[in-house]
Amino acid sequence: MLRVALPGTGCVVPPVTIGTWGLGGPQDIGGQALGWPALGDSLARSVIRAALDEGLNFIDTADFYGQGRSEEIVGLAVSGRRADAVLASKWGLLPKLDDQGNVDRTFSVAHLTDSLHASLRRLRTDYIDLYQLHGPPRTVLDQDELWLTLESFRQAGKIRSVGVSLRSSDARNPESPWWRCPGIDVWQVPYSPVAGKETVGPRRLAEAREGRPFLLARSVLHHGLLVSPRGPAAFTDVDHRHDKTSDDLVDRVEEFWSSHATPVPPEPAAARVKALLNFALGSGAISSAIVGVTSTEHVRVLAEAVQDDQLRDSVRSRQLHATAARVFG
Ligand SMILES: NC(=O)c1ccc[n+]([C@@H]2O[C@H](COP(=O)([O-])OP(=O)(O)OC[C@H]3O[C@@H](n4cnc5c(N)ncnc54)[C@H](OP(=O)(O)O)[C@@H]3O)[C@@H](O)[C@H]2O)c1
Repeated sequence: MLRVALPGTGCVVPPVTIGTWGLGGPQDIGGQALGWPALGDSLARSVIRAALDEGLNFIDTADFYGQGRSEEIVGLAVSGRRADAVLASKWGLLPKLDDQGNVDRTFSVAHLTDSLHASLRRLRTDYIDLYQLHGPPRTVLDQDELWLTLESFRQAGKIRSVGVSLRSSDARNPESPWWRCPGIDVWQVPYSPVAGKETVGPRRLAEAREGRPFLLARSVLHHGLLVSPRGPAAFTDVDHRHDKTSDDLVDRVEEFWSSHATPVPPEPAAARVKALLNFALGSGAISSAIVGVTSTEHVRVLAEAVQDDQLRDSVRSRQLHATAARVFG
């Protein structure tokens, strides 16, 4: 497995990062389902432990996922094995909606300080390897005191690197000032065939920036719907995918897979997972692709995929991008 240096940390991490939003379980914010079906703590912990056993030790969580539940599970799973893990978390989202009906957020210094200490407690650690702002607005760029405080936490060893999980609108905009902000080690962006034009941005940005930015891709399987396409009826009301899928999406996903020279059938799922990892990693822009896991079987598939030296193959990735542009726009 070809590992990649995580800027600022002295760590090298796998090309596939373990996503843990799904481990947080259901989450209702102002009547909106923003979580996943309940998994059970012991299964959730065993998923993380299986990942560590396989060397898939870069784990992405957030204080928002299950209102801290995801971080607690990760903390329990890595306790006693902290040195084996590279932990990424996020802060800034609040468990309520704003006036426009979007998830509210704040990036004040006071909230940063409280959030960091709460995350350290839940993760049962005294440092977080990568601490990310969770979808910040651009006004945060002018908050000098916030950046100085983040730097002071870095100096104190409480965080090792700083990242920004960009909103889609910034991720696809090469002119977004976020790309030129000094002191950011990692950007997290949506990157999948369905993300459409959003997938074009990071590549150009990677080339445009001085030096190579570390880009983390998220939702590479489009919440699993690109592997196993299902309509709304397949999901309960607590599952955020209930409102994100449609019969049209199901048809397009099948068209996407069937229009390759060698169509990729739904089973075994590993073939689609591997192709989607190749889509992201073969683009030349993505350093590591996050995949959300809710079973040890998912971890096993990823562990097998990272052994494939074709994972960064650019020719297949280009073909997949061309098909994605045609089918999803
Ligand atoms: N704004 C942000 O910062 C942000 C936003 C979204 C996500 N993220 C991060 O990115 C991570 C991943 O994104 P995501 O959760 O949206 O979705 P994803 O990685 O695109 O999809 C995850 C889902 O894919 C399915 N899956 C995974 N491995 C599979 C396999 N081997 N075979 C069949 N199905 C498989 C599972 O669905 P089932 O559970 O149905 O089996 C799993 O829950 C999150 O956990 C989080 O860490 C960050």
